[in-house]
Amino acid sequence: MTNNAIVNADVTKGVINKNIYGHFAEHLGRCIYEGFWVGEDSDIPNTNGIRNDVVEALKNIKIPVLRWPGGCFADEYHWKDGIGPRENRKRMVNTHWGGVIENNHFGTHEFFMLCDLLETEPYVCGNVGSGSIQEMSEWVEYMTFDGESPMANWRQENGKQEPWALKYFGVGNENWGGCGGNMRPQYYADLYRRFQTYVRNYGENKIYRIAGGPNVADYNWTDVLMREAGKLMDGLSLHYYTVPGGEFWTGKGSATNFPEEEWDVTMQKAYYIKELIEKHSAIMDKYDPKKRVGLIIDEWGGTWYDVEEGTNPGFLYQQNTIRDALVAGVSLNIFNEHNDRVQMTNIAQTINVLQSMILTDKEKMIVTPTYHVFEMYKVHQDATKVSLDISSDKFKTGEKEMPQVTGSASKSNDGTLNITLCNVDRENSSDFNVDLRGIEVNHVTGRVLTANEIDAHNTFDNPDNVHPVEFTDFQINETILSIKLPSKSVVALSVK
Ligand code: AHR
Repeated sequence: MTNNAIVNADVTKGVINKNIYGHFAEHLGRCIYEGFWVGEDSDIPNTNGIRNDVVEALKNIKIPVLRWPGGCFADEYHWKDGIGPRENRKRMVNTHWGGVIENNHFGTHEFFMLCDLLETEPYVCGNVGSGSIQEMSEWVEYMTFDGESPMANWRQENGKQEPWALKYFGVGNENWGGCGGNMRPQYYADLYRRFQTYVRNYGENKIYRIAGGPNVADYNWTDVLMREAGKLMDGLSLHYYTVPGGEFWTGKGSATNFPEEEWDVTMQKAYYIKELIEKHSAIMDKYDPKKRVGLIIDEWGGTWYDVEEGTNPGFLYQQNTIRDALVAGVSLNIFNEHNDRVQMTNIAQTINVLQSMILTDKEKMIVTPTYHVFEMYKVHQDATKVSLDISSDKFKTGEKEMPQVTGSASKSNDGTLNITLCNVDRENSSDFNVDLRGIEVNHVTGRVLTANEIDAHNTFDNPDNVHPVEFTDFQINETILSIKLPSKSVVALSVK
């Protein structure tokens, strides 16, 4: 059967906030240490301790915003342990993630240095679970106060004269759960109101305050938070992980060696984020009809499988295949579609943890299929969304169904129309006709990310096994673009 789509390039639907393409880096496993940070004395080429190869690769996907230091780690992190001479910094136990020693060598100054190197906006998550209001308030003062004050003076003693610009600040993480304090929504809403009061705007620095939001489908949490504290927040977070297996701590399924049905379940579970966004947004609309408060999906994707054999179970290290690429593509299409409410998302996590962009092994580094999707989709960052209506066959898995083909379309400043499409069917290609209206079509180019095997992935020995190649399987007849989308593929088209 042929699927169809209509693009109305002159019907615009707002801007796709570039922060939808954000990332998350926690003190977890080998994300910060080994992933980003190797220290100045390392043989691995680095700039002030930060790996050069990683910075170069991440700059290529244009990371707009980076969330740090957690995650669960944030609610046990005491920022004062992570400043001053490194040899004097306190050593602590990372209780959530493997019980390993955290030497605090990567702290506030190192994080801002990383953001500078990546040319990315910092997003700092504060400690509500085990921290105090004073601690949070002093952190903001340390980072952003320009003038004389105990914290600003201390920052200067530690080598940073001018304050940093900090826009995004999270008031706690998963405060409904075991690592965030096991709070009820009423209690957290009150705490949020109190803590955020002391997250001050100093000088020109205006902070966008993000409240800890719901877990998955906890609609009551969203309702209570919006009702009790909606007026005091700029963003409300949402966390959702794609876990194919039934049991969370065991039996989530393998990242590579999985049966075909697990592909299908993974796609359906990834697609579920559409329903979550729509239902949480409807509640937010009740209290905030003008959509002032952004939905900030600051942990997502994050396909979550069993860890790779022989690795620390607390390090959440897993491979990344073409299946993960489809999860990323489908999710990003959904986020673009909801650009009226979704203002930022942060995939979990950047390096060596869950659905990573990058895997490292000592001096070696590879990029994953998920990385390639972020690279192919970067054209949507801050672009103008245009109308795209897709009518697609259904992809069915038991009782569940989703469209076989999903997509998004946007127009960049130079007038180029960019279309991204995902075919989640692992066996069947899709003949797809796109009617391009409202644009003069002179030249079309495309790239495709696909593979023969459902678990195709890159390894340190075969780093380019999965990578995008030129896509030519299309024809243009007047305004109709006829495409053959391969099975399990992500396709990016540019129309000039
Ligand atoms: O990303 C791993 C963990 O998942 C985060 O620390 C936590 O916020 C979530 O439960």
